[in-house]
Order: sequence, then structure tokens, then C-alpha cells
Amino acid sequence: MKHFVIASVLVIVVTVLIILGLGSIDLVPNLASAEGEYVDLMFRAQLYVISFIFALIIVFILYSVVVFRRKPGDTSDGPHIRGNTTLEITWTVIPLIVVMGFGVWGALHLSEITAQEPNELVVEVTGFQFGWRFEYPDYGVNSSELYLPRDRKVLFRLTSTDVIHSFWIPEFRIKQDAVPGLWTELRVTPTQPGDYRVRCAELCGYAHSAMYAPVVVVEPDEFQAWLEGQEVGTPTPPEDLTPVERGAQLAEQQGCLSCHSIDGSTQVGPTWLGLYGSERPLEDGSTVVADEEYLRTAILDPGSQVVQGFPNIMPPAYTFLSDEELAALVAYLESLSD
Ligand code: CUA
Repeated sequence: MKHFVIASVLVIVVTVLIILGLGSIDLVPNLASAEGEYVDLMFRAQLYVISFIFALIIVFILYSVVVFRRKPGDTSDGPHIRGNTTLEITWTVIPLIVVMGFGVWGALHLSEITAQEPNELVVEVTGFQFGWRFEYPDYGVNSSELYLPRDRKVLFRLTSTDVIHSFWIPEFRIKQDAVPGLWTELRVTPTQPGDYRVRCAELCGYAHSAMYAPVVVVEPDEFQAWLEGQEVGTPTPPEDLTPVERGAQLAEQQGCLSCHSIDGSTQVGPTWLGLYGSERPLEDGSTVVADEEYLRTAILDPGSQVVQGFPNIMPPAYTFLSDEELAALVAYLESLSD
């Protein structure tokens, strides 16, 4: 009985120490959504339970190792113990209740998090290798940045153009897969104005870890102003742009700049700065001059001429570009070599 009391006290002390220790580390970034409150609450509750179970196991093991260790010269056997029905039922039933309790509690929160609300802001999100595009269908706005107003529930409708990605904003706590050929849904209410980042949480290829998009949460009136600015700006008719401007717009919209820099830095793919007109050493040992024909081929059939030092990973998905769009992109690339 004495041992049991001491071990129990130690379990409580160790549990508290683990909880305090974990609490002093930033396990998760600052919370910035209403739904995240539920997630954080359950996360903390699980952490407490886990800390207790961990303490329970290691305290009893270490206590036994130290206190009941073999004395010098003692060669006798310990007592033979065969089964303990009460103990076995206890350690089966209690965890069962705890796990089922968490299951029910989680389901209740999930139904609140996913509940519909009137006046939701719909944002269609398209994931692609390797970036994100955002569409606001109610406003006819397209953007490579995710602008959101504070305190309004957002319904994200997610899809992908190539492989499975996972839409994740850690400060919002919620996450959902973006699957080609499917529309998945996710709801969230941002509560803290600020700058965040969409990340991809599904290993989706070579540049998975670079698959970011900026998130900006602003006050509702600022959001309205942003929308209006976009509405004026977005449908800029292609005929009003020079080919170079049009190419720059396409590079942004199509996510080219997720992998290709225009400042000379090497990202996933070769930089576009000074690319046009340069000599390109190819994987097979040959060299080719990056003329217009080369650039067109590189966009439409990227696997046919792979530049040395870069993996052959560019999606051959850009055949949907019209001749005019292709010419604009090539003109833009040319403008980066002066
Ligand atoms: Cu997309 Cu990982």
C-alpha cells in the first residue's frame, strides 16, 4: 500500500511536469480562427490524457526498477503471479470509455465546425503542382493570394488539377484534401487580421515543401475594397495588355512563378532571368540555344529537353494555352533577357 501511494503521488507530479513542459513549447502557432477553438480545446485535453498515461507507465516501470531491484546475494525467485481479472477489466474498460468519449466529443465539435451558415463567402481553391489559385465566384475575382474578411464564415471548395494536395493553414487549424475530379469542402471563420500562409500537407511531388500561397485576413471594409480593386483589375482584357504584360499576368495566374524565379535565384526549375538566348546544357550532354522555339517546346512538352541539374518534373499540362497566350508567355520570357 505504501508503494502504491508513493507511485500515485509520483504519477501526479510527473503528469504535471510533462504538461508544464509541453505548455512551455510552442507546439502550435497562434490561433486565428473560430473553429480552431474547438480543435485547440480537444488537442489540449488529449495532451493531458496522454501526459497522464505516459507518466503512469514510466513511473511504475522506473519505480519497480529502482525499489524492487534484486538485492546483492538474493538468488530467490519473485512471486509467480497468474492473471488479475479485476486489473485487466479496469485497464480495458477505462481506456474504452476515454476513447469513446473523445469520439463523441469530437463528432459534436465536428458538426459545429462544418455547419452551414447564411452569408458564407465562397472561395474555390485549385491546387496544382506546385501552387494554389483562388476564385471568388460570387464576385468574378481570381487571385493568387487568399484574401479573407475577418469574422465571416468562408466555404472553401477545393479541387486539384493533377495529384492530391492538402489545403492547410496552420493558424486556422483545419485541413482538407484537394483531389483531382472532386470538390471537397471546408469551412472556417478567420478571427485575427494578419498574414498567414497556405501550405500543402500532402506529399505531392518534388516541390511539395515549396507549395505555398499567401493568406491575408483583413477587416470587412478592407476586404470589400480589395474585391473592388480586383474586379476592376482582373478581367483586364488581354487585348488591352502588351504581350509582355499579358505574359507576366499568365505567369502569375498559371503558377509558373511557384517554380521559376524572375530574379536569377534557383528554385525548383531554372530561373527565367536571362534564360532567353542563353545556352542550355541538356541532360543528354548536348547544348541548345534558348530561342523562341525552345521556349515553346519547354512549355508544351517540358520532358523533351530537360536542362542539366534539374529534375524532369514540370507538369506537361500547359497544352491548354492558346497560341496567343503561349506567344505572350514567350514574349515575357524574352523581356527578362536584356
Ligand atoms: Cu501539393 Cu504537397
